[in-house]
Amino acid sequence: MCGIIGYTGSDSAQARIIEGLRKLEYRGYDSAGIALVEEAKKPLLIAKRAGKLANLEEALTKESRASAGIGHTRWATHGGPTDMNAHPHADETGKVAVIHNGIIENYLELKHELEIRGHKFKSETDTESVAFLLADELKKTGNLASAMRAICKRLKGSFTLLAVDSDNPRIIVGARRNSPLVVGVGKGENYLASDVSAFIAFTKSALELGQDQVVEVSPEKVEVTDLDGRIVTPHAYEITWDSKAAERGGFKHFMLKEIYEQPKAVADTLLGRIKGEKVELAELKDIKIDFERILILACGTAFHAGLIGKYALEEWTHTPVDVELASEFRYRKPVLSNKTLVITISQSGETMDTLMALRHAKSLGATTISICNTIGSTIPRESDAVLYTHAGPEIAVASTKALLTQIIAIYLIALNFGERKGIKLPNMTGELLELPNKIQKILETVEPLREMTRGYKDATSVLFLGRHVGYPAALEGALKLKELAYMHAEGFAGGELKHGPIALIENGTPVIAIVPPASSEIAAKMISNIEEVRARGARVIAIADSSFNLEIPEIIRIPKSHELLQPILSIVPLQVFAYEMSLLKGNDVDQPRNLAKSVTVE
Ligand code: M6R
Repeated sequence: MCGIIGYTGSDSAQARIIEGLRKLEYRGYDSAGIALVEEAKKPLLIAKRAGKLANLEEALTKESRASAGIGHTRWATHGGPTDMNAHPHADETGKVAVIHNGIIENYLELKHELEIRGHKFKSETDTESVAFLLADELKKTGNLASAMRAICKRLKGSFTLLAVDSDNPRIIVGARRNSPLVVGVGKGENYLASDVSAFIAFTKSALELGQDQVVEVSPEKVEVTDLDGRIVTPHAYEITWDSKAAERGGFKHFMLKEIYEQPKAVADTLLGRIKGEKVELAELKDIKIDFERILILACGTAFHAGLIGKYALEEWTHTPVDVELASEFRYRKPVLSNKTLVITISQSGETMDTLMALRHAKSLGATTISICNTIGSTIPRESDAVLYTHAGPEIAVASTKALLTQIIAIYLIALNFGERKGIKLPNMTGELLELPNKIQKILETVEPLREMTRGYKDATSVLFLGRHVGYPAALEGALKLKELAYMHAEGFAGGELKHGPIALIENGTPVIAIVPPASSEIAAKMISNIEEVRARGARVIAIADSSFNLEIPEIIRIPKSHELLQPILSIVPLQVFAYEMSLLKGNDVDQPRNLAKSVTVE
């Protein structure tokens, strides 16, 4: 949830860290701070400000000559977003500072112990305990890495920690448990960061850190150890995407750019995986297909991908499929066996609830596959197999292209497993390959929707209706609108209307209805639902293909497709609707209030 960067080299640490924080700000943006080692053995230069990174930049009135330091952009957990609670947190001498992503669950116990030892806390955070603990430990050995190893053994919860100490002026030390940390290996300079976007403009060589590992970097050297000090060889990899992929590239917002990247993202996820009428997934060849049940675990938009995918998975693999919120699953005592296949879905690969749900499922004997967009992240690393989506970096907090590619990935799995099980399947590959062009067509004809959105700006609530695969698409439409426009929005299954939700309809209530293709057995039912809400005064925007002659003034047309593929098309106008509404309301599109891109705390 927070963005973390450390730099040590010969360039300006301040410039590199601020540049990195700009790239990481999507991870958390309620305050930001920096600690720079200006002079050996002297107090660090520490600046921190509540609010966006721009506030911190304003506070840094002159360029520091430091060539090592750490920086943080925060999503508050313990203590509100104030200057005092912003990271870094330092010891009383100001010579040791720490930044943190995660939650130290035993911080109250540590705080009590540290107060008895005479430390005076200034913030309400869980992190300040770590700063004092580290400084005390450092007094014993003088070695920052071994002090970090010692205190990590005492910490409970999840953390990525970076620390600097002016007695070790060129060194930065990092540690991780359950939260992300990567090393960027440069020439005469090295980086530690929450993700590669922070340093990709300077180096494409990266090292993945494992669970409970500590890393010490100087400009010349990177050394990784476990918590007992044993040297570990980290997995090295080259970052394949271009730094430009994480820039806005002429678009007003990352979200808009990512919406327009969807044709390419879908094409890239299909690339090399379709051979004629067959789907070949080399990544999953070792996964046995004799499972009796499939369980999909995910959060937020990725959960909606799972709900949509369930229909195809059941239809094409003849296997019962359940979809569950990862945050609920992990605290249940579910019945799983080695005949259960668990599929986790996560754009970031770092969502804490999904990671913990994955571990829970593994402990109960399930085989695990992850669908993920972030190479080398924790969830795929801990799964038996991974099918990467190739959406490219998704920076806007609201997920768009990741979702479409996650649905594609589930469909590929469903077809591949169905084929391997010898099930007679419809020929879907041609339809799948046509999707990028169809999405492109929607984007080229979406203009009237922008105009329509204006008519709904003052609505207090927007309802989304769908049936079958259109139902989770409706849930996604509502989530996007809440997240971006801060409006009350709810998605309903058309069939459920009469069981309660129809009471919400009054004169002028906006209802966005996703109409299935005319060939669907529930098409007529959906039309009846639309008439029912219109009869009670609702203003309906219908999203429908050209197979319908609807007598509704506001219709957004999408290209015809197989019913199961329709959400991949119908969700695109819903994204545009939410985007436009956010603009009309004057909201921060890419960084909506209270949110962060990767939810790495529970
Ligand atoms: O990185 P993940 O896919 O695991 O993230 C899951 C959710 O936090 C994410 O989809 C969230 O709901 C989006 N901000 C919605 O747009």
